[in-house]
Amino acid sequence: MARILGIDTSCDDTSIAVVDGGTTILSNIVASQVEVHHRYGGVVPELACRKHIEAIGPVYQAALEEAGVTMADIDAIAVTRNPGLIGALLVGLSFAKALAYATHTPLFPVNHLEGHICSAFLEVPDLACPFVCLVVSGGHTDLYYCEAPGTYRLLGETRDDAAGEAFDKVSKLLGLGYPGGPMIDRLAREGKPTAVRFPRAYLEKDSLDFSFSGIKTSVLHYVRQHAPTQVADVAASFQQAVVDVLVDKTLAAARYCAASRVVVTGGVAANSQLRREMRTACAAAGLQLVIPHPRLCTDNGAMIAAAAHWRWLGDPTGLDEAALLGIDAASDDQLADGSLIAWPNQRT
Ligand code: KG4
Ligand code: ZN
Repeated sequence: MARILGIDTSCDDTSIAVVDGGTTILSNIVASQVEVHHRYGGVVPELACRKHIEAIGPVYQAALEEAGVTMADIDAIAVTRNPGLIGALLVGLSFAKALAYATHTPLFPVNHLEGHICSAFLEVPDLACPFVCLVVSGGHTDLYYCEAPGTYRLLGETRDDAAGEAFDKVSKLLGLGYPGGPMIDRLAREGKPTAVRFPRAYLEKDSLDFSFSGIKTSVLHYVRQHAPTQVADVAASFQQAVVDVLVDKTLAAARYCAASRVVVTGGVAANSQLRREMRTACAAAGLQLVIPHPRLCTDNGAMIAAAAHWRWLGDPTGLDEAALLGIDAASDDQLADGSLIAWPNQRT
């Protein structure tokens, strides 16, 4: 069992955690940049980089302190390598490389999406594979079949915007600001989800892909044609349309794979209506559902440590010195080790 320091700087949160055995969180510090990006209505990559540089030292100190450990107690360092904002990724990766080199601690680069998937093991340590996993975040809306830690088959993905991106864009056009997901989640509680029937993009029969750019355009047209609008009703109706598709496709994926377990994670999995409706639907279908605590669904270092743990079990040495010095941030979308495989007969 390893004690792993996990680092994530993929977007607008600087996070470092200490995790024992891939499942027990000793600390999980998150420095949010919401205040910085709020006034621009979205994440400004250049500012995100600078804020990561300022925050990473103090966040690292806080993570060790809260866990009550020093680097001498850490068996390995895990860091998000990709995907994400390239400059933001570079800050975490450079920090992790220097720390690994200086303290002779093995380094494990981690794919951010694998981190989201592995957040399930932080919530339910004895969760068994296989399971179907919906990763629904600001950059991705993917369905995976997780056969075992490290073996993820892609079942479906968004063909355009991610669900979180749709939340953020709709929030902006409704004048609610950034970050959009939590704003819409809150306001939707005061609105009528049946007020406006926004389109649900199910795509071709049996497709497990997603599309969220159309709904964003529909909201824009609706708002232009119906000014002044009941913003809470529009927010609730938009959210209902997104949640309907996410729930239906996730259950379809579980049926398709004959899976008995479902995991839902990523920033949008913090959405209260999605959590509620996913619970109801999975219970009705007799599926075990794991939705990690909202703090574990949004970006955090603990999930990165969790994703590195099973690799450490396989080989605890991490990168050798040449690889350690040579490794760089990469913006490609593939899960590590080419383990992202298109599911056969994915589209009919
Ligand atoms: O996973 P995450 O923290 O970062 C990425 O990897 O993208 O996800 C961020 C996304 C943002 O689009 C944000 O608006 C959305 O998650 N989000 C939510 C909620 N909380 C965060 N969307 C809907 N409802 C929420 N409560
Ligand atoms: Zn994320």
